[in-house]
Amino acid sequence: MTEELEAYILAHIDSEDSLLAKLRRDTYVNLLRPRMVSGHLQGKILKMICRMVQPQYVLEIGTFTGYSAISMASGMDSGSELHTFEINDELEDFTRSYLEQSEHKEKIFFHVGDVLETLPDMDILFDLVFIDADKRDYCKYYDCVFPKVKKGGLILADNTLWDGKVVQPVANNDSQTKGILEFNNMIKADSRVEKVILPLRDGLTMILKL
Ligand SMILES: C[S@@+](CC[C@H](N)C(=O)[O-])C[C@H]1O[C@@H](n2cnc3c(N)ncnc32)[C@H](O)[C@@H]1O
Repeated sequence: MTEELEAYILAHIDSEDSLLAKLRRDTYVNLLRPRMVSGHLQGKILKMICRMVQPQYVLEIGTFTGYSAISMASGMDSGSELHTFEINDELEDFTRSYLEQSEHKEKIFFHVGDVLETLPDMDILFDLVFIDADKRDYCKYYDCVFPKVKKGGLILADNTLWDGKVVQPVANNDSQTKGILEFNNMIKADSRVEKVILPLRDGLTMILKL
């Protein structure tokens, strides 16, 4: 996507909420690797997916500063729950301060810790999962999450085209690219799910549990 087209799209969709715009700016000014933040377009898509799916329980793996969590919560009904996990406890104060400012804060449950350790003991079946954490561990997240997703539930996995690196002929791929390649092959071979890759931003795979 060209910058010009992206600017056109952003000018013709709902405006970015003021809290999310502030959070995005604050993330870019104050934190390392700010590009990890979902941003205006992806945030609106996640919100729209929540509107369509109307999930009671959502799981997010990889909160970072909370942009995607607040976006998804804004598309969820009152009384529903979004459980979002972040392993980096140095982000806790920053992220919690934004989650607290959101008018949807009562739907957001922020867990600081490794999702792979905590999720197996959670007694929730999720309607929607958003995987957006360490690219090396996507297969592990998928295996851990799968039994916790309802039949008919949707798993979204972000960055599955990994900046186009999935099709670049490189003899020794870096570990993150290897992780994404392995994940994409694993999903392709999984007959328990229906799947499609959207060429959105860095690639978003939609996986429906049959
Ligand atoms: C790409 S960022 C998430 C961006 C966020 N979803 C957004 O759109 O604004 C990935 C985050 O996953 C976190 N992470 C990595 N491994 C994790 C794990 N095992 N459990 C929970 N969080 C993890 C990282 O610390 C990082 O903050």
